[in-house]
Amino acid sequence: MTSVSDKPVSLADVLAFYLEAGVDEPLLEQAIDRFAATPPRARVEAVQPTSSAPAPGRVQQAVPVVPDEAQAALARERASRASSLDELREIMANFEGCNLRLTAKNLVFADGNPEADLMLVGEAPGRDEDIEGLPFVGKSGQLLDRILAAIGRDRQSAYIANVVPWRPPGNRKPTPIETEICRPFIERQIELADPKVLVAVGASSAHTLLRTNEPITRMRGNWRTFTTGSGKEIPIMPTLHPAYLLRTPAHKKLVWRDFLEIKARLNS
Ligand code: URA
Repeated sequence: MTSVSDKPVSLADVLAFYLEAGVDEPLLEQAIDRFAATPPRARVEAVQPTSSAPAPGRVQQAVPVVPDEAQAALARERASRASSLDELREIMANFEGCNLRLTAKNLVFADGNPEADLMLVGEAPGRDEDIEGLPFVGKSGQLLDRILAAIGRDRQSAYIANVVPWRPPGNRKPTPIETEICRPFIERQIELADPKVLVAVGASSAHTLLRTNEPITRMRGNWRTFTTGSGKEIPIMPTLHPAYLLRTPAHKKLVWRDFLEIKARLNS
């Protein structure tokens, strides 16, 4: 295979390019003949929730249904029914109102010790987390484990979850509506875990949990308050995401400061 510059391009290069672009899984074993398939207009009709079986010869595409406010309301109602973390996990596993679950392999509910006084909340699972069904197990997670170890903590003494529990395809950022649909679940999860100290890992988590758009660079290092549905106030520390630190290692010292603050608060 050659590129436009005639420099040889290996199959491995092409696959690496796809992986970077977010194409990291084959969906079908056989290629689709797009010329033989349904014209675009008919395909759109085929994905309407009310449509009946596709006409003979037409390809029914597994295009996710766009969620709406009704799904967010349903999520709120379902989350409020959970009286334990186990019940919440079960409710989330059966919740069909978020399109992300159509492409995710697993629900990524939580890892660590739900009894811990420290709870960390990230943005959403990535590829590794989706495969294992556990949060923060990839490269970012390994760095997060080292950060926790620096304050004498591990997954026996911390509880870890994400705002969004299903992997967005290609590791894209969850959309605002996806986040709103998942918000009741993480809020209830925090309420049920009832930690002494909460950490918002990265901008997305801080923005969702604190309902603000302030830059994370300004928020990090400063205690804020997360208020649960029942009105309990929990101190929350926004900090930089380990994925960002992997790209910008010079900022690790800022996170080190944040975690010293967290350690002091836990010991107070
Ligand atoms: N990034 C997150 O925010 N959460 C994970 O679980 C993994 C990576």
